[in-house]
Amino acid sequence: MINKIQEFNVMRENLNYKFFINGEWRVSTSGKTITIKNPFNNEIVGNIQACTKEEVDQAIINAKQSVNCWENTPIRERAEILKKAANLMNKWSDYLGELLMNENGKPLKSAISEIKRTALIFNATAEAKSELVGTTMTGDILEGGSREKISITYRVPLGVVLCIGPFNYPFNLTGSKIAPALLTGNSVVMKPSTEGSITASHLGIILDKAGVPPGVFNIITGRGSEIGDYLISHPDINMINFTGSSKTGKHLAEVAGMIPLLLELGGKDAAIVLNDADLKKTVKSIVSGAFSYNGQRCTAVKRVLPMPDIADILIEKVVEETKKLSIGDPAENKSIGPLINSNQCDYVQELIDDAIDKGVEVKCGNKREGNILWPTVLDKVTVDMRIAWEEQFGPVVPFIRVKTIEEAIKISNDSEYGLQGMIFTNNIDLALNIAQELEVGTVQINGQSSRGPDHFPFIGTKASGMGAQGIKYSIKNMSRPKVIVMNLSEKGKLLRKCDID
Ligand code: G3P
Repeated sequence: MINKIQEFNVMRENLNYKFFINGEWRVSTSGKTITIKNPFNNEIVGNIQACTKEEVDQAIINAKQSVNCWENTPIRERAEILKKAANLMNKWSDYLGELLMNENGKPLKSAISEIKRTALIFNATAEAKSELVGTTMTGDILEGGSREKISITYRVPLGVVLCIGPFNYPFNLTGSKIAPALLTGNSVVMKPSTEGSITASHLGIILDKAGVPPGVFNIITGRGSEIGDYLISHPDINMINFTGSSKTGKHLAEVAGMIPLLLELGGKDAAIVLNDADLKKTVKSIVSGAFSYNGQRCTAVKRVLPMPDIADILIEKVVEETKKLSIGDPAENKSIGPLINSNQCDYVQELIDDAIDKGVEVKCGNKREGNILWPTVLDKVTVDMRIAWEEQFGPVVPFIRVKTIEEAIKISNDSEYGLQGMIFTNNIDLALNIAQELEVGTVQINGQSSRGPDHFPFIGTKASGMGAQGIKYSIKNMSRPKVIVMNLSEKGKLLRKCDID
């Protein structure tokens, strides 16, 4: 891919991309690189640096040394820098979108939208700077306290925040961590997922050009298996915001020790469809929710639980719409493209094969070419099948027919995951009652599961995560209250004229 943007030349030599420390683009002393290939055509997109532990140390030291200076930069100036970064993202969205498409096989239009959505997050985070205002209180509300005791509470950064992003939204989901981290005055070390590193690394140029001082934002690339544990257990990391698999998230929580964690992990979002649901709307939500970006979204519709009177027609219509999805080259904006790599295809196929062995009805799909899996609809999935519980992260939608609402709630809740749930019905009272029973972070009524809009709280329970993200929630979670208490002297009391005749 030809790079027509002069500003990006500094970060690469031919196809070799560098990493970013203290405002400089560097080649790793390891002498090793990792090749990133386009999952659709297997062409080389570029090579990223396999950083060493010493380079991890350098990134963290620089970040640590920069915190004070960045914290002392007025909040409004930090907000202005985020806005400048958003402008650059919009300006360069076509190039970055194409790069992202090449790197992770996302349809071009969606890839460009991802860059623009990140710009929106940066702008909205800048606008949310008032979340950082403090409060004052007098002590006389509680017994034992008095008006002479006054607390001044304001918010301070946590220090060095480690932002680890996933392959599926490498620009957006790392960006949505970086913007609040920087606004609140933290310095950042970003470790993108290997697949996705190239596009995400462009955040280095963008933030540098926007005015983030050297050392405040740093990028480390390399295999998680080599530097991951070293990074997450580093004593100078003060907070970790991670998006990725539940398995890696659990490991991270075990290794990281006593620092704040914000984790966005896997999901097995179930759509409960009641007999009175609006068929057209429900079909649209299921097909879009299950198959957008080939189902490689934590918030994809990963199970459908239809009630008896609607099951046949619902499945028939979902199959009809699924068969209309275009398949092929992401550059041509086909609805279904390649999964991220062949291992992931093998895994999804394994789940389909297990279900077939146990008697599932394959309504469509179950075909593979290269890294492309045809969108697959499975009917009569039973709870002994792996696909009922394991997160497929691929283009497969399993229908588990249920007889009662209680059964649907039980199957939803029996999952180890607890990201989102969906209820499709025209009976809003009933929907609200069911919503209260679901053990998830968010329940969507008559809509597909989704993280956005990005100012909503985004929460995973159980194995789906820890803490709340979303613009103002991330700002709060990436800063902490600092309290200064003034203990006024008795003399102050004497000055008050409050004698009542
Ligand atoms: O899997 C990542 C997820 O956050 C994607 O965002 O808004 O499409 O659900 P959204």
